[in-house]
Amino acid sequence: MPTKTGESWRPAPVPETSSLTEVREASRECTACHLYKCATQTVFGEGPKCAPIMLVGEQPGDYEDVAGKPFVGPAGKIMDRALEEAGINRSHVYVTNAVKHFKWEPRGKRRIHKKPNSREIAACRPWLEAELRLVKPKLLVCLGATAAQAIFGSSFRVTRERGKVLSSKLASKVVATVHPSSLLRQPDEESREREYDRFVVDLRAAVKAASEA
Ligand code: URA
Repeated sequence: MPTKTGESWRPAPVPETSSLTEVREASRECTACHLYKCATQTVFGEGPKCAPIMLVGEQPGDYEDVAGKPFVGPAGKIMDRALEEAGINRSHVYVTNAVKHFKWEPRGKRRIHKKPNSREIAACRPWLEAELRLVKPKLLVCLGATAAQAIFGSSFRVTRERGKVLSSKLASKVVATVHPSSLLRQPDEESREREYDRFVVDLRAAVKAASEA
């Protein structure tokens, strides 16, 4: 759904092509919502075009916004460790986000993450759809509520559905789990370890489902 910005509607300029590189290039010019104005750059997905598994997060964070690559900050580091433990090599999967610009608000000198709203998620959705159309993963992993709701709608609850192999119009097999940053927010070491282990269990379920696809 394009968003109305000032006078004109500006839908995400997704080219009709089978080239992921061309789609990535086009995403740099996206003005489908206002988030491009305060972000450093578009952070498009990354990974092999033939990847059997695609992981989708919420939106780039501060580190990703500067690097121009998804999941390279603290959440990405813990995700990489869990992927390895689940038998997934990060370089073999495609990693992206539901929203491709960093949404933030200033707090002193820091840029604090702000959750994207449904209009921003909808404006960015054509890019995710294009990634799914071109990569055609056997399995999609939704990391956290924003990603899962971008795929299944706003009534989806990760707490209820995590770890199950589901199906959607956009991907025939989908596993939803928590966002890796939620592991970093656990109040103590014990709950951090417990939640990390649950995250690895969900990722193992995803690997199993992908191997059966
Ligand atoms: N959180 C996300 O959802 N995506 C990133 O790329 C980084 C942090």
